[in-house]
Amino acid sequence: MQRDSIANTFLVAVVLCAVCGALVSGSAVALRPMQEANKLLDRQRNVLLAAGLATKDTTDEEIGQTFKDRVVRVVIDLRSGEVLADVNPDELEPLKDAKSSDDELRLALGSDDPAKLKGRENRTVVYQIVAEGDPTKVEQYVFPIRGYGLWSTLFGFLALKSDLNTVAGITYYQHGETPGLGGEVDNPSWKAQWEGKTLYNEQGEVELRVVKGGAAPGDEHGVDALSGASITSAGVEHMVDFWFGERGFKAYIEKVRGVDSSASTTVAPESSTEEAQ
Ligand SMILES: Cc1cc2nc3c(=O)[nH]c(=O)nc-3n(C[C@H](O)[C@H](O)[C@H](O)COP(=O)(O)O)c2cc1C
Repeated sequence: MQRDSIANTFLVAVVLCAVCGALVSGSAVALRPMQEANKLLDRQRNVLLAAGLATKDTTDEEIGQTFKDRVVRVVIDLRSGEVLADVNPDELEPLKDAKSSDDELRLALGSDDPAKLKGRENRTVVYQIVAEGDPTKVEQYVFPIRGYGLWSTLFGFLALKSDLNTVAGITYYQHGETPGLGGEVDNPSWKAQWEGKTLYNEQGEVELRVVKGGAAPGDEHGVDALSGASITSAGVEHMVDFWFGERGFKAYIEKVRGVDSSASTTVAPESSTEEAQ
């Protein structure tokens, strides 16, 4: 066969494709465990960031250790607010459940969907931050939140202090909003003003507002909107409204606050092999 014949050209192309294909799929498979570990570490870091127990400079080792020492994951049923002590958080896939067509796993939100989620998972994980050396004393609760902004769904965590009303911190770990506009949700000084704000009014309704033009001094329920990003700001307000309202964590929060003390005392066992969701 001549070196520059059509058959030879085809043969070289086919062999090259096969070799490259094998290399790409081999490295995808080989790197999967590393990707999963990084995803898990990233989630742990963001839970701790929301709770003020980490900064962006905290090392991976410190994140792993603090998460192990100070975080207890609790699976809850969002319909009843009950803790599901027999469900392993590693086996839960809330984001997958939210897209399912099974009513046992998901609540379809229909037209009343302020955070533009389409569906809400029925079970999720709440992260309890426990006191150093005393795992029975919960100091903060970190809740996963998400909702649509202008371009994208923003995924984050909001931490509440032990009164389950005062904000301890907020952080977003994934979004596609515009840097400098909606992307300012990542700005440390914007996030800092959330600390100490209160979620609920005396009637138990979510009162926290993201105020266009800036919250009035002393407004315990108001945080400044992001300038030039009213739509992302409204998205943030809507997701807080949703997740801490009747179809979100409110039933759990009311149970922990004392209507039913079982929610605060029953915890799922911690596992160091937590899987990324
Ligand atoms: C390229 C481009 C990107 C934008 N990105 C965002 C964004 O991420 N979030 C947002 O709320 N508004 C964004 N806007 C602005 C919105 O279109 C809209 O004008 C704005 O939300 C109004 O906010 P304001 O009332 O504070 O000016 C963007 C506009 C342009 C032209």
